[in-house]
Amino acid sequence: MAFFKVLSSFFMLTAFHSSTFSLAHPGVDFGWDGSFHPGGGFSGLFPGFYQCSCPQANDIVLSVLEKAIAKEPRMAASLLRLHFHDCFVQGCDASILLDDSASIVSEKGSGPNKNSIRGFEVIDEIKAKLEEACPQTVSCADILALAARGSTVLSGGPFWELPLGRRDSKTASLTGSNNNIPAPNSTLQNLITLFKRQGLDEVDLVALSGGHTIGMARCVTFKQRLYNQNGDNQPDETLEKAYYNGLKSVCPKSGGDNNISPLDFASPAKFDNTYFKLILWGRGLLTSDEVLLTGNVDKTEELVRRFAEDEALFLNQFATSMVKMGNISPLTALNGEIRTNCHRIN
Ligand code: HEM
Repeated sequence: MAFFKVLSSFFMLTAFHSSTFSLAHPGVDFGWDGSFHPGGGFSGLFPGFYQCSCPQANDIVLSVLEKAIAKEPRMAASLLRLHFHDCFVQGCDASILLDDSASIVSEKGSGPNKNSIRGFEVIDEIKAKLEEACPQTVSCADILALAARGSTVLSGGPFWELPLGRRDSKTASLTGSNNNIPAPNSTLQNLITLFKRQGLDEVDLVALSGGHTIGMARCVTFKQRLYNQNGDNQPDETLEKAYYNGLKSVCPKSGGDNNISPLDFASPAKFDNTYFKLILWGRGLLTSDEVLLTGNVDKTEELVRRFAEDEALFLNQFATSMVKMGNISPLTALNGEIRTNCHRIN
């Protein structure tokens, strides 16, 4: 941990200097992290954003995460997913954390989120500690990004230099949440289209799907594969037989919708490249996992094979793609606000 802290301070400092330089020359991109958002242009985020205003921000996030993940290892996965579901809906702006109110229809009730998305109490605990240490300074959107990185690192995955400075939205989008977050039975074309909409390409799609190296999914998200994949009452033929038989016992034809199964059954709490090896063996849990290999797109098929062969390649690309995802349409400067309570607008 000491090494991690030294490493992160080193990155914070070097990045702070390079970003100060970049910001002093608007319009000139020195491209230290390729942080562009889909609308084009420079995202305006930089790793040293809290260097002066809240230098202990990352340590506070990590201290809460360490406890939460020690208590329940799955929490790391849940927090990683929370950042993904935030970023795909009007950008990484913590819109996912807003509760229903007079002006807000919460995204928590959307198809992809309802009875599914979790980790809100951990974000609340982090926010409470940060408000105590540095009032009205660290945004809920940055907390989600820091929690996603910390969760990855604490699960044995890669570290990345994380651009910060996102502000929080004053709106949420239930429609955006329903339409932009891919469904587990998506075709590969559909996945590619939804990722492209966010400025993410096939490499990002395959690498970020590797987030499924940790965590669980409910029976209802993979039941169709077991009993009626193509409307002919037959299972998905790409499912390996022994794995298929095991899944049927967790996920019966009727009922059991909330029973859970690991996305990477070989090492569900370890951030490694086993997810890709399992896909090669027909043991990917969701249709959206297996189609990366079988969906007739050479590029994604090739990437699954390469990530399965070369763990370092996957971990590096995951880190790069997480920075890209974290840069989706952030609110900066005078846009948005720093919420004092992540559940509601100020
Ligand atoms: C490519 C399109 C994707 C689809 C269709 C998809 C779908 C799903 C589904 C259906 C679940 C299970 C939810 C439930 O049972 O309640 C899940 C879990 C998860 N997803 Fe994805 N996902 C995708 C991409 C991603 C990305 C990009 C990340 C992060 C980088 C991610 C991280 C996770 C994690 C960590 C879990 C486990 C959460 C937990 O255990 O609480 N997913 N995903």
